[in-house]
Formats: sequence, C-alpha cells, structure tokens
Amino acid sequence: MSLLELHGVTKSVRLPDDSVLEILRGIDLTVSAGEHVSVVGRSGTGKSTLLNILGLLDAATDGEYLLDGVPIGRLRSRQRARRRGEGFGFVFQQFHLLPGRTALENVIAPLLYARGRMFWRRRTIAADMLDRVGLGTRMDSMPEHLSGGEQQRVAIARALVRTPRVILADEPTGALDLETGAEIMTLLDSMATENDAALIAITHDLAVASRAKRHFRLGDGVLTPLDLPTEDRAPDDVPISRADQSPAEDEPSDDEREFVS
Ligand SMILES: Nc1ncnc2c1ncn2[C@@H]1O[C@H](COP(=O)(O)OP(=O)(O)O)[C@@H](O)[C@H]1O
Ligand SMILES: [Mg+2]
Repeated sequence: MSLLELHGVTKSVRLPDDSVLEILRGIDLTVSAGEHVSVVGRSGTGKSTLLNILGLLDAATDGEYLLDGVPIGRLRSRQRARRRGEGFGFVFQQFHLLPGRTALENVIAPLLYARGRMFWRRRTIAADMLDRVGLGTRMDSMPEHLSGGEQQRVAIARALVRTPRVILADEPTGALDLETGAEIMTLLDSMATENDAALIAITHDLAVASRAKRHFRLGDGVLTPLDLPTEDRAPDDVPISRADQSPAEDEPSDDEREFVS
C-alpha cells in the first residue's frame, strides 16, 4: 500500500472579484515510504498549495487523498490534526522558528504535543536531534543569532524530532546561498534516509530537484513526470543552481525554462 495517493485533486479559490482561480486542476501522485520526490515549477504554479494539501494544512476542492489507504475526508478534524502532528514534518523557505526561544526550545516545541516517552524525554530527544544536524554546541543560541544555514538546520531538527513518515520541504534552500543550500539538501536527504521518511521537496531550483529519485513538474495545474538526471548519475548535465540570486526573483534561467516554463 502506498503512503500517500492523490487522485484528481483540484484546488480552486474564489477571488475578491468573484471569479474563480483554478490553482490545481487534477493532481495524481503516489508516494511510497522512504521515497524522495521533487516537484519543480515556476512561481505561482501552485507548489505551496499542493504541499499544504499533502500536509493536511489545506483541503482540496475535489478529488481524493488517501493516507495509508484511508481517504482523509473520512477523518474527523481531530484525527486529521493528530496525523498532521505525528506524520508530517515541515521545512519552509523562511525557517519559521519561534523568535526569543533557543534552538533547543524550538526543537522541543513539537514534542509538547507528543505522548508518553516522547513527551517525557523531550529534552534529551531534541538535544540529540540538534546534535545530529551539527548544532550540538549551539543549543542555547537564539535563532536571530544563527546564520541562515544554521537556522534551517534547527528547522530540520524540529521537522524530524517526532520521526515523521513524510517530510514536506517548501523551497528549503530558497533563502540560502548556493553552497549552504547544497549542504542543507545533503543534510535533509541523509536525515530523511536515516529515518526512512519520505521526502517531498518543492523547489524552483533544478539542482535541488535533481537530488531526488523521482521528479515532477507542476504547470497548468497538473503534475507531469520530469526526466531529470539524478545528481550521482550525471552531475555535469544538471543546470546550475540559482540560489545565488535573490530568492524573490522567480524568473527561471534559460536552462530552466525548458523544464519549468
Ligand atoms: N487562498 C488563496 N486565495 C487566492 N489566491 C490564492 C490563494 N492561495 C494561492 N493563491 C494563488 O494561487 C497561485 C498559486 O499559489 P502558490 O501555491 O503559493 O504557488 P507557488 O508556491 O508555486 O509559488 C498564486 O497565483 C497565488 O496567488
Ligand atoms: Mg510557494
């Protein structure tokens, strides 16, 4: 049985002028445990919308979403919230760490909603996770005193601390320079593999995308498989990353245009 299955998932929103914007027009996607999947697409194509639906943060307008074979529409809202907390770890472009709380407190935060051993041992579990992302000596630092790459490491530790089966990453390197972004992707990949978690990374950076085993392009509201060389196979063919540009600039380079326009 697949971990996640989307069948014909759509998302439409009503705009202030009463017109309807069809963001997703019919998404089909199947992801198995431990799989690494990337989705590329230009800005505004609905990548974050898709990720939010996958992570139970937003509801589809139509179509079917099966989680462990169970249609999520059948779950009560409390069950959905529990599955979101236990089953998913989120990593965002802008880190979203709690300001004024130490790195350790940020990683402990999700464990306050855990039960049993995870709750009672939360401090040890969080400290161990920070150690694994290379921040063992920075546990008492405030996020505002950490570099972007370090903040994203804290966010990764926080995303993984409840050992989710799915990690959802929305432009995880979008606010980082090229080299730091590559380090963060390596970390995310290896942490996902160690934890046997599925990783779904959404990005407009093809170098980031190429690390996954399966690639998709989101455009015109549908997902299409993308034949991208994986990094270990043909690194020279991978178009250079654009992480050295301002994250606000979403225009793809000419190299990317053939994939994501
Ligand atoms: N709740 C909403 N109401 C109106 N428009 C929305 C809403 N959510 C997303 N959109 C629009 O849908 C499109 C896709 O958004 P998004 O999923 O954030 O794209 P991406 O992450 O690929 O940049 C954008 O044009 C955005 O403005
Ligand atoms: Mg987005």
